[in-house]
Amino acid sequence: MSETPERVATLLARESAGGRVRVQGWCKTARHGKGVSFLEVSDGSSMAGIQVVAEPGLANYESELLALRTGCAVDATGELVESPAQGQRFEIRAARVEVVGGVGDDYPLQKKRHSFEFLREVGHLRFRTNTLGALARVRHAASRAIRSFFDARGFLELHTPIITASDAEGAGALFRATIFDPATAPKTVEGTTDWTQDFFGRPTFLTVSGQLEAEIGALALSKVYTFGPTFRAENSNTSRHLAEFWMVEPEVAFLDLDGDAALAEAFVRAVLGELLERCGEDLAFFDERVLKGVVETLEHVVATPFERMTYTDAVARLEKSGKAFEFPVAWGADLQSEHERWLTEEHVKRPVIVTNYPRGVKAFYMYLDDDERTVRAMDVLVPRVGEIVGGSQREHRLPVLERRMREVGIDPAALGWYCDLRRHGSVPHAGFGLGLERLLLFATGLGNVRDVIPFPRTPGSAEY
Ligand code: 4AD
Ligand code: MG
Repeated sequence: MSETPERVATLLARESAGGRVRVQGWCKTARHGKGVSFLEVSDGSSMAGIQVVAEPGLANYESELLALRTGCAVDATGELVESPAQGQRFEIRAARVEVVGGVGDDYPLQKKRHSFEFLREVGHLRFRTNTLGALARVRHAASRAIRSFFDARGFLELHTPIITASDAEGAGALFRATIFDPATAPKTVEGTTDWTQDFFGRPTFLTVSGQLEAEIGALALSKVYTFGPTFRAENSNTSRHLAEFWMVEPEVAFLDLDGDAALAEAFVRAVLGELLERCGEDLAFFDERVLKGVVETLEHVVATPFERMTYTDAVARLEKSGKAFEFPVAWGADLQSEHERWLTEEHVKRPVIVTNYPRGVKAFYMYLDDDERTVRAMDVLVPRVGEIVGGSQREHRLPVLERRMREVGIDPAALGWYCDLRRHGSVPHAGFGLGLERLLLFATGLGNVRDVIPFPRTPGSAEY
């Protein structure tokens, strides 16, 4: 007869000690003293593990338990008692400790700080560390907060396709999805690859954004969002870019740019607020070990309205800043990360929403302003990270949309269905995309996007 195992977090949250309990997990540490062993057992449910105290009276004490060390998997049963030790309320006085899995001599994780670079090399074990365990819990809580924010406001979650025929951003950073072997792919008479013979009978790619399909949803269901992996074959080896990242994209009918910006602000503040509420222990760890002050920054962001300014205004302020930027500031050029960071970190010292960018630096689907120089775009910039949200009011006027598509070299016929939506019951609509990893960089204080996604895909790297 055996007890049902309980999560460590549940045990530690108990009102009082007492009773027989059972836990299963991995030893974060194992200390063997005179006539007693202390195992800190973690199962990933909380930052803190639970201390299991094992004494020589146990049948396998000499033969097995004395050999326990960091990384070993155990299954322990015993009495939950008040802990005499500092910093923990309860511990388990073991009546039985089963060694489920030992570790090899080359087990790479020890009770010391490992560099993030090193941990990426042992990505199959890194969730056993405090930092990646905390990240996994915060990432989970963020996903949950994202879904509950939209659910509470009447949005439907729309599952948009991962394999798509359209380049939503018109940026050409696409991964091709094909069943052809490059060596034997059928050719046209011109000698190019004959995609009509491929699986879908046409060229297909991994999606860079679910937006265009989310627009289909919004123009019937009013408020939708899509949340899933997106893929970009940009060869940018930075601490902010991944080739596969998770994006949440709401899309709303009868909404303009102002409403879109207000939604993005409410959303970012609500999700961060929920992380503060639910992930106190993990965020405190990030504050102590990764970036001092990160919790205070989050509290400030949740409590303070975001700044708003137009792109034109932002450029004027950048020009007046007197800063020597690596990339020159000029109206018409896209804001570089150094510009974004100056605006949010040094200038307004809080998140800022920059709107109405020049048409030349933004995608074809954005609503053209009356002056025809700018589009109704908005980016949310936050300190340290820069852009975490990009969005816009969409061009819903068919003649303008077709003109814009031709200008950037997209044949309107190739996106016939997208244009068609503008012929039947077209309404102003808007949406945005938030990169989950960018949000997590901001929330945790971690410095590299490779450490906020379980299995990072970057140029030259696709392990697991
Ligand atoms: O600004 P982006 O490219 O906008 C879109 O894709 C729109 N279709 C969104 C929409 O309006 N529905 O990307 C949106 C966000 C960025 O602000 C950033 O947070 C994140 O996605 N992002 C990336 N995150 C990690 N790695 C990359 N390579 C990213 N590219 C964009
Ligand atoms: Mg963008």
